[in-house]
Amino acid sequence: MTFKKIPNHLAVIMDGNGRWAKKRSLDRIYGHIEGIKSLKSVIKGVMEYKIKYLTVYAFSSENWQRPAEEVDSLMRLLDKYIKIELPYLIKNKIRLNFIGNIVRIPEQSKSTLLEAVEKTKNFDELNLTLALSYGSKEEILDAVSKISGDVKKGVIRIKDINDGLFSSYLYTAGIPDPDLLIRTSGEYRLSNFMLYQCAYTEIYFTKTLWPDFRKKNLTAALKNYEKRVRRFGKTEI
Ligand code: IPE
Ligand code: IPE
Ligand code: MG
Repeated sequence: MTFKKIPNHLAVIMDGNGRWAKKRSLDRIYGHIEGIKSLKSVIKGVMEYKIKYLTVYAFSSENWQRPAEEVDSLMRLLDKYIKIELPYLIKNKIRLNFIGNIVRIPEQSKSTLLEAVEKTKNFDELNLTLALSYGSKEEILDAVSKISGDVKKGVIRIKDINDGLFSSYLYTAGIPDPDLLIRTSGEYRLSNFMLYQCAYTEIYFTKTLWPDFRKKNLTAALKNYEKRVRRFGKTEI
């Protein structure tokens, strides 16, 4: 499959794991486990289509409010997923990164994550970013406080504050804005995901639950993206 244009940066809000499990009378965690298969399938597709940046929303700053049992299972799953996938990432020259406030992530999962980030830091076949303990409002507020501090210290001047500078203070510094955002499970909202970065992102909503979302669904989203006319406020030429 070839496309007339593909996104340089694809972002995904992987939603619907719990409902997928509920439909089968299973515990929610089985939805998360199945969701990992979807992630693997999407990563394969993204590599094949030569998309350079993939960012996936894995755990939001608000998800900490879920029952402790689910949070613990998700953190253990994160640890297990990275351990199992690290050889694949290395073999395929995939750079793993994260965005989010990871101080809250349990030590074991955090050290596995940081080790994988370190071991893959020189790769750039694909930049895979996990949004973990991520909240866009928190990210923006963090940026504002760091910028204020730097203004106070004289590192920057108020008149230097522009889009480029502001972006460099976000967790996503160095990562281009997403061109396409996919949200699964039929929810039509951003749920505190990349609010600043998605100013001109094309959005694709699908009713498919994340554990059912596989490469063919990615292909359908990319087919749809191919037809989009991105104007960025200008007139069409
Ligand atoms: C997305 O699936 C995964 C996470 C938020 C961690 P959900 O767990 O939100 O599944 P639903 O939305 O309840 O079906
Ligand atoms: C968004 O899904 C976060 C992730 C997919 C990780 P949620 O399930 O947490 O979002 P809401 O609560 O339905 O908005
Ligand atoms: Mg959800």
